[in-house]
Amino acid sequence: MGHPRSDIDVIFSAEQISERLGGLAEEIAQLKLDKLAIVAILKGSFIFAADLIRALNTVGMEPEVDFITLSSYGKSTVSSGTVDILRDVSIDVIGRNILLVDDVLDSGRTLAYAKDLLSARGAESIRTCVLIEKDVGRAVDIKADFKAFKGPNVFVVGYGMDMSHRFRELPFVGRVVST
Ligand code: IMP
Ligand code: MG
Repeated sequence: MGHPRSDIDVIFSAEQISERLGGLAEEIAQLKLDKLAIVAILKGSFIFAADLIRALNTVGMEPEVDFITLSSYGKSTVSSGTVDILRDVSIDVIGRNILLVDDVLDSGRTLAYAKDLLSARGAESIRTCVLIEKDVGRAVDIKADFKAFKGPNVFVVGYGMDMSHRFRELPFVGRVVST
């Protein structure tokens, strides 16, 4: 459950998330991708990625795992429209099958930027997987190949995601209703 609190409405509970990740891992395993490398987009996806790779282990997969830190928001809750690399991946992506993992697909800029970057570097294939695909028009034409949930067009926190550096520790996804 997580410590109950009155300032946040739960959107996806810890139980709902963990139930869904087993099925999501099975969907990913069905692709039977050789030499799969997960590239998790930090910071927001760190808890999702950690749970997803363990769910992938449960279905028999052995992905390599790497990280890239991208920023499009700063402290704001509205996308700035530009994406910056704060910390790059350390693996060589040439010839690799990549699964990009992010927390939220919103405008699409972050995922599109990461996809273009790794593709330009010679990745063999790039799939995308998000925890939440927001029900909103995208600024960039990109779809998630895999998603745990479709979500409403509201700013969400918890399960790794922050609002001004707060709430990443929550075990559920919620919406701040008062501060
Ligand atoms: P996009 O580039 O507009 O698609 O936004 C995706 C990025 O913005 C994600 O990597 C998230 O880190 C962040 N983001 C978008 N919506 C939310 C939200 O509701 N809560 C927390 N982070 C968000
Ligand atoms: Mg992010």
